[in-house]
Amino acid sequence: MTCTVVVDGFFGDGGKGKIVSYLTVADDVAVCARGGVGPNAGHTVVKDGVTYKLRMIPCGFVNPETRLLIGPGVVVNTEVLMKEIVELGAEGRFGIDPQCAIIEPKHIEADRRGHLKEKIGTTGTGTGPCNADRALRTAMMAREVPELERFIADVPAELNAALDEDLPVLLEGTQGTFISLYHGTYPYVTSNDVCASAICSDVGVGPTRVDEVILVCKAYVTRVGAGDLPGEIGLEEARERGWDEYGTVTGRQRRAAPFNMKLAKRAAMINGATQIAITKLDILHPDCRGCESFEDLSAEAREFILDIEEALGLPVTLIGTGPGVREIIDRR
Ligand code: IMP
Ligand code: MG
Repeated sequence: MTCTVVVDGFFGDGGKGKIVSYLTVADDVAVCARGGVGPNAGHTVVKDGVTYKLRMIPCGFVNPETRLLIGPGVVVNTEVLMKEIVELGAEGRFGIDPQCAIIEPKHIEADRRGHLKEKIGTTGTGTGPCNADRALRTAMMAREVPELERFIADVPAELNAALDEDLPVLLEGTQGTFISLYHGTYPYVTSNDVCASAICSDVGVGPTRVDEVILVCKAYVTRVGAGDLPGEIGLEEARERGWDEYGTVTGRQRRAAPFNMKLAKRAAMINGATQIAITKLDILHPDCRGCESFEDLSAEAREFILDIEEALGLPVTLIGTGPGVREIIDRR
């Protein structure tokens, strides 16, 4: 593993946080950089029984040796970021690019009314209006915020220097393929592209430097906010199946549907995936909880994985069997 990009194959909330945190520890990742949109993301990481809900800091924080960066493509809420830095004790190893755009109160206000709230059902975090201001060339930049001065870092330069030294680098995406501004179900999408090439661009790493693209797909599909969800089941039925999830940022119950091979295939194509990670297999097949080897999975669960490999023509290398960082089958 030299340069790996991790992205979500559906509508976000696929469990990237868990996969990224596992890889950072298992592969001794030197630098973990976040691309993606902004604090509209919510990544859940369970470390030593403690649950962390992260919105700005990369999930790679679980490895205390890993340098943590936020690339210029990301929009930043200074208050949320500062809170996370303190909570995680990340002061000494965190860097933010001077060109990150800064979310201001007016952006949050604009995100909580009108068509953004009523029609799109945004997270109300101000990311869309901030990206709009960035496109208008009126956004405030991280380099203008005194509070952030000691964390300012040339993120593209640091990442490319690490790659020159052959150090393991992980690029962490947010949201999901089908809420990408370009490749999703427009207008029911987020305010930026979030596919693998966009994540590289967000952090300043060129496509020729990437070795692996891991596409994370949950064993069933969920979506928050408005927009098409093929095969959607009711919220009540989702609760009965144990598929009821609640948004990390908004607390809303996520809409749910069964695993969708057609979407997974398209996501693998758009992201140029080289490996697939399947998360929450233990929710679909409770008898798989905590399994650490493929052979320990039930016949039904193994068949589910093999079907995916056959349909996508890609190896399923990582399988999540529980919320803990180590509850995973690693077939790499
Ligand atoms: P915005 O990104 O807050 O503008 O919201 C636009 C749409 O993307 C809404 O449907 C949100 O629910 C959805 N969305 C944004 N971020 C995430 C995420 O991290 N996970 C899942 N859905 C998200
Ligand atoms: Mg999420």
